[in-house]
Amino acid sequence: MTLWAGRMVGGPADAMMRYTESIGYDARLALFDVEGSIAHVRGLSHSGILPTGESELLIATLAQVGEEFRSHRFVLLPEDEDIHTAIERRVTEIAGEVGAKVHTGRSRNDQVATALRLYTRSAIHELIGGLVGVERALYDRAVEVGAHYLPGYTHLQRAQPILLAHQLLAHGWALARDIDRLVATLERMDVCPLGAGALGGSSLPLDPAFVARELHFARAFSNSLDAVSDRDFVAETLFDLALLGVHLSRLGEEIVIFSSEEFGFYRLDDAWSTGSSMLPQKKNPDIAELARGKTGRLIGHLAGFLSTLKSLPLAYNRDLQEDKEPLFDAIDETRRALPAISGLIRSLTFQTDRMEIAADGETMVAIDLAEFLVAQGMPFRQAHGVIGALVRRSLDEGRSLRELVVAEPSLGEPALSLFIEGSSVQRRRSAGGGGVGQIEAQLEDYLAVLKEHEARIQ
Ligand code: ARG
Repeated sequence: MTLWAGRMVGGPADAMMRYTESIGYDARLALFDVEGSIAHVRGLSHSGILPTGESELLIATLAQVGEEFRSHRFVLLPEDEDIHTAIERRVTEIAGEVGAKVHTGRSRNDQVATALRLYTRSAIHELIGGLVGVERALYDRAVEVGAHYLPGYTHLQRAQPILLAHQLLAHGWALARDIDRLVATLERMDVCPLGAGALGGSSLPLDPAFVARELHFARAFSNSLDAVSDRDFVAETLFDLALLGVHLSRLGEEIVIFSSEEFGFYRLDDAWSTGSSMLPQKKNPDIAELARGKTGRLIGHLAGFLSTLKSLPLAYNRDLQEDKEPLFDAIDETRRALPAISGLIRSLTFQTDRMEIAADGETMVAIDLAEFLVAQGMPFRQAHGVIGALVRRSLDEGRSLRELVVAEPSLGEPALSLFIEGSSVQRRRSAGGGGVGQIEAQLEDYLAVLKEHEARIQ
């Protein structure tokens, strides 16, 4: 029997139930629904709506139902439309007439909004844990690689030598912002919707602030319409995870490129790569590729759910049930991605000899030569022109840049020292730059952020 059977003549149509049910995917909210329901019952008792004996029976029953879920003994019935109706049905089976009081002063509209917030809060905490693992992997590798360097790229063209640690930490900073964004989402969503009822509150003396405290929310809602129709926290989480996905896709792309034979900067560990079913020699960066590829669905979930929300009238509409599948999928995919990516990063072999040969090409010091002239007082644009012309001549005439530099009066022998292998990253001195002099400070700054993030997850 449905919860609303009293209003209807005859039973619901099978196809209607099959189309509108959410039990196929919302069972994962069970323990959060139980937690919300226990707080609700405590609130009813606190407000004198339920006598203590009855609230105690309801709480014990809800705890028992929670235990049935934990031990996988809870039996779903075909008529269970969603996890909330299933739990109320079971509570009433166990506690009889008192069980039928659990939904006093409550609607599924405030109930589901609460359960989903509790679930999302817990999932975000877990995701932050996984993200901190990736931060730690990047940091540890950055420390380990010391002063090794590689070409830095713009437009995927070799630009200037930079420290490998600098390249690794660039991804680390992006992930640190992802954590900060998730933390900000947690803070904004820290509002308890219970007590909003279907949309307008209740004639019963409910105490939403009491219930909010029971569930460890920072505050109760201020507007019941907003409380039941607000899914900003879902949209924000989807955005946070989509952007995190974008960051992982860029890191993934880099690992794909750097582990190609053409680059040969990274070597993949056997345990963290796959083989080919046909070509015996292959070793493939599938984790990195999926980190790149799965970002498509994360962006899709955000775009899709924003479309669901767009133009929805206040307050609850069944459309809102569409919040769950994209959210669950985005969380599941991210949860699975993070340890795989940490493992991939930790297991990469850095072929620093290959990186350094690539970074030691003559033209990689072009900017250093220009800045050598700037240090002598030449305007930068002019210096750029002088060096640009030398590079062009070197390519056109097939002569080494060194040779042309020595012959150039404003450069000459003293400028040859700029070509000394590995010296470019030694010379780089501006704060936050990719040279040897700055990396200690950056590592220190990053470690402070990392430690703060690690402390959060304790
Ligand atoms: N399963 C529904 C959801 O997830 C529960 C709310 C249904 N409320 C209603 N008034 N029909 O949104």
